[in-house]
Amino acid sequence: MLSSPGRGLFRLCLVLASACAALQSAEQGNSVTDPLNVLFIVVDDLRPTLGCYGDKLVRSPNIDQLASHSLLFQNAFAQQAVCAPSRVSFLTGRRPDTTRLYDFNSYWRVHAGNFSTIPQYFKEKGYVTMSVGKVFHPGISSNHSDDAPYSWSIPPYHPSSEKYENIKTCRGPDGELHANLLCPVDVRDVPEGTLPDKQSTEQAIQLLEKMKTAARPFFLAVGYHKPHIPFRYPKEFQKLYPLENITLAPNPWVPAGLPPVAYNPWMDLRQREDVAALNISVPYGPIPVDFQRKIRQSYFASVSYVDTQVGRLLSALDDLQLAGRTIVAFTSDHGWSLGEHGEWAKYSNFDVTTRVPLMFYVPGTTALLPQGGEKFFPYIDPFDSTSELMQTGRQAKGLVELVSLFPTLAGLAGLPVPPRCPVPSFHVELCREGQNLQKHFQFDDSKEASSFRGNPRESIAYSQYPRPADSPQWNSDKPSLKDIKIMGYSIRTIDYRYTVWVSFNPEEFLANFSDVHAGELYFVDSDPLQDHNVYNDSLGGGRPSAWMLP
Ligand SMILES: *[C@@H]1O[C@H](CO)[C@@H](O)[C@H](O)[C@H]1NC(C)=O
Ligand SMILES: *[C@@H]1O[C@H](CO)[C@@H](O)[C@H](O)[C@H]1NC(C)=O
Ligand SMILES: *[C@@H]1O[C@H](CO)[C@@H](O)[C@H](O)[C@H]1NC(C)=O
Ligand SMILES: *[C@@H]1O[C@H](CO)[C@@H](O)[C@H](O)[C@H]1NC(C)=O
Ligand SMILES: *[C@@H]1O[C@H](CO)[C@@H](O)[C@H](O)[C@H]1NC(C)=O
Ligand SMILES: *[C@@H]1O[C@H](CO)[C@@H](O)[C@H](O)[C@H]1NC(C)=O
Repeated sequence: MLSSPGRGLFRLCLVLASACAALQSAEQGNSVTDPLNVLFIVVDDLRPTLGCYGDKLVRSPNIDQLASHSLLFQNAFAQQAVCAPSRVSFLTGRRPDTTRLYDFNSYWRVHAGNFSTIPQYFKEKGYVTMSVGKVFHPGISSNHSDDAPYSWSIPPYHPSSEKYENIKTCRGPDGELHANLLCPVDVRDVPEGTLPDKQSTEQAIQLLEKMKTAARPFFLAVGYHKPHIPFRYPKEFQKLYPLENITLAPNPWVPAGLPPVAYNPWMDLRQREDVAALNISVPYGPIPVDFQRKIRQSYFASVSYVDTQVGRLLSALDDLQLAGRTIVAFTSDHGWSLGEHGEWAKYSNFDVTTRVPLMFYVPGTTALLPQGGEKFFPYIDPFDSTSELMQTGRQAKGLVELVSLFPTLAGLAGLPVPPRCPVPSFHVELCREGQNLQKHFQFDDSKEASSFRGNPRESIAYSQYPRPADSPQWNSDKPSLKDIKIMGYSIRTIDYRYTVWVSFNPEEFLANFSDVHAGELYFVDSDPLQDHNVYNDSLGGGRPSAWMLP
């Protein structure tokens, strides 16, 4: 097939990416103006422990297959490592200092500004926008409605079995049901005989079937719940990860030079019945090593379970012949510490909690268009697949931020890219604080597998995390706005992570950079796991130049 005229045209197109989509769709018999659909997949608490990110243990063949046809961002970061603030940030395209949401307790439209959202923008441009599962964080932060009616054309869907997530449905060694952290289940045995993510996949496939013949393009957001705790997943996935094969984190101790303000005491894990029974000392632990292995096993098993759901969803996209006219964006709201630095959960500024998977499949741009019935996304059973890495797709190494999703998705779909935000921008409903990442999609095939044309040293990713006190306490993981006293502002460049913890006034939303409580500096080359804080060594003058807001 490589010599056919279509493919030759494609080579040229790789250089002239935008002209290309039109030619390719003309070849398919579509009108050149047919807009692309968007399937936006967001996974809860997923760090890049995936085959396509080089993880040798985790089986994620379906996500890896998506990556093989996508542009994958190696260095993508969330703006705050906790669900609601991160989701509101990337869905509005504004940083937490603009949404003013650092906790779970306010709705940005009334609390900060009436900011437009990604789905709202697509809806206003004529798309049918649909939400399945956890896209917006539920509760006040999306006005108890997932921001309906503004963001969605039809009422958002939530799986009915979601209500069993936090009640006693995990069978313990005593034969009784508990509200445990580790919760491998026999799906036939649980209430309703199903799990939330399975229901979400089924619902999303039904919506795709309906949209197949629709006159308008669609924007379908699908939010998976796992691997968020509790680890409630079909127990057969444990078999992929025998405990004897599970290693501990390479750096499972609290680093000597870690300022106490930077540490998150993972209180949510401690509240689960199985963890509470271990009497782990507060705040630093540690968790007994056998149990550490079990947590890691359940996290990885949950990831493989989600991978099968992504696989079913994408194979449906293929079967419905939508893969040639649908952009697929895949990401997560933030990462998760799996014992690194003696920490668990999110709630910090370390790479393990801020770094996220991010990839975009753009038909005709990141991959050739599927030809005559060709399948891009056949379902792959993780139990059958070998651990050999699938062919890698295109990869970008520059530092990028989730706040850039909004302009990038708009641009990739051919919609006008919202203008840059003025400072401040509380009064502006539609603007972008992130960058349009479309420049990464202009591929130069002479440089294999790397698409980045600019200088990766020029890009910076910003994250932040609030704390109620200088030392870890009961609410350090999730302080309410009124309790925030310190904000940790963090920048990640290709060379280092630099964080300053400064005093913060929650009434006026003011950070005081003259009042530094603690600092952290880690160099990527010499200390990739961020165990040796050299902030004090740098006070003499070698410190990265002045803190600058974007
Ligand atoms: C906020 O934005 C929505 C969507 O554009 C609009 O319907 C609503 O009137 C706006 N509310 C205010 C108070 O401006
Ligand atoms: C939030 O929801 C309430 C209850 O449905 C509604 O009355 C209110 O108008 C909503 N807020 C906004 C800004 O739309
Ligand atoms: C566990 O490790 C052993 C030894 O490296 C390996 O042979 C086996 O395939 C591994 N099992 C799984 C399920 O990965
Ligand atoms: C850095 O200096 C501060 C203030 O002198 C001190 O409290 C802290 O322990 C030092 N940190 C390290 C890692 O040496
Ligand atoms: C935890 O503490 C309780 C009450 O003090 C005790 O009964 C139990 O044996 C302890 N468990 C472990 C694992 O130490
Ligand atoms: C900022 O912190 C400095 C140093 O502690 C202090 O002198 C100053 O008053 C603070 N500024 C504000 C606005 O609180």
